Amino acid sequence: MTIAQLIYASTTSTDPRPSVEEILKTSRVRNKQSQLTGFLCFRNDMFLQVLEGASSAVSAQYARIANDRRHSKVELVGYEKVGKRRFSRWSMGYLADRGDMQSILFSYSGQNEFDPYGMDYRTAIEFMSEVANVGERAGD
Ligand SMILES: Cc1cc2nc3c(=O)[nH]c(=O)nc-3n(C[C@H](O)[C@H](O)[C@H](O)COP(=O)(O)O)c2cc1C
Repeated sequence: MTIAQLIYASTTSTDPRPSVEEILKTSRVRNKQSQLTGFLCFRNDMFLQVLEGASSAVSAQYARIANDRRHSKVELVGYEKVGKRRFSRWSMGYLADRGDMQSILFSYSGQNEFDPYGMDYRTAIEFMSEVANVGERAGD
């Protein structure tokens, strides 16, 4: 089966202010049910998320996420059909915003700023793969 990979960037809404813990809790239960995997980055009030799985499941979940009022300015970074999952270990991995991410950001952007809207698809995939590997303890 072909795997679809989708990446988007978004910005948290201020009212209500979202709880990342809560988002992760729901995501992990739901994603296991629909065999979705992926990774979520959160920094400076912005999200960068990759979702992967069957194309129908990815599209359906993205539609739900895009309508979630806990964030706005949802922008598709890219969508691709691939042969293999990159984040198969995580129903939704997450690396808390720590120093680790700072140094990875530096190597990807020449600066320490997290700018998910300015990332191209390839860079975003590589960036999140690296963050995911640093965050082995990110849980599943
Ligand atoms: C930044 C962000 C990322 C999210 N990621 C996921 C996810 O990976 N999987 C998921 O099931 N829900 C995710 N959600 C939650 C969904 O938007 C939605 O609340 C959830 O799927 C329940 O949908 P329902 O209320 O239509 O049942 C995310 C929400 C936000 C704000």
